[in-house]
Amino acid sequence: MTTGGKTIRAGVIGWPTEHSLSPRLHGYWLNEYGIDGTYVAIPAPPEDFPAALVSLVEQGFAGVNVTVPHKQAAALAVDDLDDNAKRLGAVNTIVVKADGSLSGSNTDGFGFMENLKSGASGWSVKDGPAVVIGAGGAARAIVAALLDEGAPTLRLVNRTQERAQALAADIGGAIDVVSWQDRAATLDGAALLVNTTTLGMTGNAPLDLDLGPLPKGALVTDIVYAPLETPLLVAAQLNGNRTVDGLGMLLHQARPGFRQWFGAEPTVTDGLRAAVLKGLE
Ligand code: ATR
Repeated sequence: MTTGGKTIRAGVIGWPTEHSLSPRLHGYWLNEYGIDGTYVAIPAPPEDFPAALVSLVEQGFAGVNVTVPHKQAAALAVDDLDDNAKRLGAVNTIVVKADGSLSGSNTDGFGFMENLKSGASGWSVKDGPAVVIGAGGAARAIVAALLDEGAPTLRLVNRTQERAQALAADIGGAIDVVSWQDRAATLDGAALLVNTTTLGMTGNAPLDLDLGPLPKGALVTDIVYAPLETPLLVAAQLNGNRTVDGLGMLLHQARPGFRQWFGAEPTVTDGLRAAVLKGLE
C-alpha cells in the first residue's frame, strides 16, 4: 500500500535500539501484506528526543513506536493524547496526522490483554483477583488494562512498596497494595499472576516466589520473553498452572500502530512468532 506512490515510513525511537525486535516484527508484516513501507530503528538519546520527533515529521514519517526511555517524554511531546495514554502518562505509539500534528496512544495494556485472550482460551479476567508483581511503567499499563477489562480486585506487590502505592493512587480502582514479604500468601484465591518486573530475564536473578498458595486454575504470565520460558513459567507449569509467555504482548501491542500507519489490519501468527524469535537467538 502506498500514499501517492510514496513509500510509507515508520519506525521505533528509543535509546539504545540495537536489541529492539520491532523492525523485525513490522518488517515481517510489511512483507506478508506486500506493503510498500519501511520500519526502521531510530536511536535518539534523551536530550535529542524532541528534535528527533520534529525531524521525523519533516521527513514525512507516518508515525513511530516509542520505547525506553522516551515513553513519558513522548506523552509530553505529542499534540493529542487518548484517555488511556493520558491516564498512564506514557505513549508507545505516535501517529502523524494530515496537518503534521502528533497523536499519542499507549497499546501496552491492549497487547497484554490480547496475548492472554489468544493464549488462554476459556480463562476470563473476571474469574477472580489478579496479582501483579512490580510497579514500573509496564505494570501501570497492565494494571489499568486488567481493571478496565473487569478484574474484580487487583493485588499489587512491589519490592519498593511506596511505588506500588503511588501507582494505585494514580490509576485508581480496586487495588490492594501488598507488602513484598507477603507476596506468596497473597496468591491465595487468585485467578491470575503476572510478573512485570525484570526478574527472570537472562542475566537477572529469578523471581523468588513460592507458588504453593496459588490455585491450580490460575493463569500465570510473565512480561519477560528472554528467555521465553522464564523460571516463573517453568515453576508454574510444575505447580499445575496454565501459562502464557511474554512474547505475545510485544506482538499484539504492535497491531494498532501498524494498522494506522500502513492501512492493513495485521494478525499475530505462528510465522510471525517464529520470525521474531529468530531475533532473540
Ligand atoms: P519498566 O518501566 O519497564 O516496568 P522499571 O520502572 O525499571 O521498568 O521497573 C522494574 C520493576 O522491577 C520494578 O517494579 C522494580 O522494583 P522496585 O520498584 O522496587 O525497583 C522491579 N525489580 C527490579 N529488580 C528487582 C529485584 N532485584 N527485586 C525485586 N524487584 C525488582
